[in-house]
Amino acid sequence: MRICMLGSGLIGMFYTMSLQGKRSRDQVTVVYSRTQNSAEKFASQWNIPDATTDMDAAIQRDDVDVVIVALPNHLHKQAVLAAVSAGKPVLCTKPLGRTAEEACEMLEAVESAGVFAGYLEDLVYTPKTLKALRSVRHGAIGDVTWVRSRETHPGPHSDWFWDKEMSGGGAIIDMGCHCIEIARNFIGKDIRPVEVVCWADTQVHPIETEDHAIGMVRYENGAIGQFEVSWAFRGGMDLRDEVAGTEGTIWLNHWLRTGMEMFSANGDSDYVAEKAETSKGWLFPVGDEPGALGYVDMFADVLGALERGESPAETFYDGYVVNAIMDAAYQSVLSKRWEPISLPIWRGRENVESISVRREFDQDHYLVKQERMPDGCLKVIVRNKTSGQISQRVIGE
Ligand SMILES: NC(=O)c1ccc[n+]([C@@H]2O[C@H](COP(=O)([O-])OP(=O)(O)OC[C@H]3O[C@@H](n4cnc5c(N)ncnc54)[C@H](O)[C@@H]3O)[C@@H](O)[C@H]2O)c1
Repeated sequence: MRICMLGSGLIGMFYTMSLQGKRSRDQVTVVYSRTQNSAEKFASQWNIPDATTDMDAAIQRDDVDVVIVALPNHLHKQAVLAAVSAGKPVLCTKPLGRTAEEACEMLEAVESAGVFAGYLEDLVYTPKTLKALRSVRHGAIGDVTWVRSRETHPGPHSDWFWDKEMSGGGAIIDMGCHCIEIARNFIGKDIRPVEVVCWADTQVHPIETEDHAIGMVRYENGAIGQFEVSWAFRGGMDLRDEVAGTEGTIWLNHWLRTGMEMFSANGDSDYVAEKAETSKGWLFPVGDEPGALGYVDMFADVLGALERGESPAETFYDGYVVNAIMDAAYQSVLSKRWEPISLPIWRGRENVESISVRREFDQDHYLVKQERMPDGCLKVIVRNKTSGQISQRVIGE
């Protein structure tokens, strides 16, 4: 694929590194940036033939098969609409919009023009997440009841993230979008997210938006997606997911404990890992950042889907659902109550039943719990099917 990269910042770099990595045949043919100097610097670093400050011209070039939007949040809509008018397939980084309204406009624009679009939510493509999702979809942990997804670090690296008008919000819009989509993937993207309760505050930084938030998204089947985000966490980037099912549990640690731990008394003058706070003392380097963060598998899926004329795993529709959940979270922060999620476009299942596991013990009882006690006895707690009475039996006393 011949790619137009809009943006030469952190994510533009990770995307280019992933697309052109190893022996890949994909090539960024043109990079757009605000200043010619930074566009050219990026182009020369990554062997990109052309660099420009003219976004429309970059998109419209004949040697561009697909446009990637790697720009600050307030420019996503403009860039997507420019790609749509040029009839070019477009991939947009997260969050899709600053609000669900913006995301919805982008969704409707690509769909009514029949333009291929992918939502670049890399964290559902990390190798660990893909493996965990396969296990969940095969039923290895039963029905998912609760997903806790956490992304915290000391704060973003560019001014615009901290400006509410440009970003659309703080830690929720920046990182809650990842956590919400991770939970949706585990719980089931066809299960309707119904309501959200969220706490957020500005604990540390002198900004208008939140630098810390914790929220819960309730799904129609009773499952809960919990997101924890912070721009005030010290110690690097903490990326963790926990998936609880009726028959099992999965814990994923993506960053600070990746399997490589190193101590350096002198300090390592090289880059350690994204958002690492120190290069001295105990360090948690990451061998293959683009791979570990999911970028490599993400582009394999999205560009493969484009070639085959299929839909990628993450679409603009998913980005819009995530934005709608975040809108409700922001409302809940203000109201301090559960707030309904408004989804004028919903393509999932309707009237899904609650997760409810009723294990038979015998003809008259359900099994509540059984446990082997320290004295070797088996304690069985049951519930009478008609009276509802709870009782226990100790076997082997
Ligand atoms: N894991 C991920 O998926 C991930 C990680 C980081 C960032 N992002 C997203 O990527 C987008 C860009 O983030 P980034 O970290 O690369 O930002 P950045 O500040 O590092 O880079 C922004 C790029 O946009 C260009 N730009 C054009 N107009 C601009 C303007 N008016 N103000 C500021 N920059 C302007 C800059 O020149 C620069 O090339 C954001 O939407 C962000 O949420 C995604």
